[in-house]
Amino acid sequence: MRLALVSDLHVDISQRNWELVPQLAELLKIIDPEAFIICGDISPELGDVEYALDCFSSLSCVKMFVPGNQDIWVLSESMQEQGHDSYEKYFFHLPRLCRRNGFVPLWMEPQVIRGIGFAGSIGWYDFTFREDRHPEDGRPGPAAAAPDDAENHVWNDLRWACWNDLASMMEGGLGPFRRPDVEVARDFIARLEQDLQTLERIPGVEEIVVALHHPPFPQLLEGTVAARLGEYCSFLGSQDMGKMLLLHNRVTTVLCGHLHERRDITVDRLRLICSPVGYLAEDRRRNLAIAESALTVFHLLEGEDLLLL
Ligand SMILES: [Fe+2]
Ligand SMILES: [Fe+2]
Repeated sequence: MRLALVSDLHVDISQRNWELVPQLAELLKIIDPEAFIICGDISPELGDVEYALDCFSSLSCVKMFVPGNQDIWVLSESMQEQGHDSYEKYFFHLPRLCRRNGFVPLWMEPQVIRGIGFAGSIGWYDFTFREDRHPEDGRPGPAAAAPDDAENHVWNDLRWACWNDLASMMEGGLGPFRRPDVEVARDFIARLEQDLQTLERIPGVEEIVVALHHPPFPQLLEGTVAARLGEYCSFLGSQDMGKMLLLHNRVTTVLCGHLHERRDITVDRLRLICSPVGYLAEDRRRNLAIAESALTVFHLLEGEDLLLL
């Protein structure tokens, strides 16, 4: 089975990012994969996400999406004050938008395509990528300074990613009403594990592909710019997610985004692939060259391929 992967389209970041999406769709028509997966970070604006997904409307393959941290931002303080939050986007607006545009919302609907299982999640981070985390809530200690870029990134999530604690809000307390990142990450790990168990109960599903936005292994950071950002690494992913994935023997391949650097490595028995577009404003290459380098095409051996051998 031929699969194509991309992440971090960031169509709101620059005109070049916006214009790249139709180019990606053109290239995919030539590649003609059986499944195409986008691992998050299209845009915080739902209209932009709709534009990007619609660009792939002429592709006849199975198309799947998992959201990234920027897709679940609620970019308006007044909307946040009215109670709109990231869960609303994650569980309601984004799935609806996917279905309307021919994409499977993979984090809501695990799939089986020709005997291969697919499951997905945004992932999230729980500070387990750093050892020197605060003992009580997992947040990094104040001693470790983050570089400017990292501070901006972290600040953006702190401001716009709002996973509300509905129970506390209902009790009418003074807040804070946002759930801690550690708790958010733990919930997403549990939800994904349930989906994996569902797939494992389906007869004939011997192999499972997992699509995430946030990386599940710190090994993905080795040799990347992100790895040089020190404390910033805390906000990149969750080792507990990786540990959970390793417990499920049928998971062979993990796709993720968020890093903005291409990766294709092996950890234990898992193949891990990141295939981002990233921020293109300063990129001087032609669109076709960027599209070619952003897309990853890979193959999975399935039953009938093995018989042909
Ligand atoms: Fe991104
Ligand atoms: Fe991201």
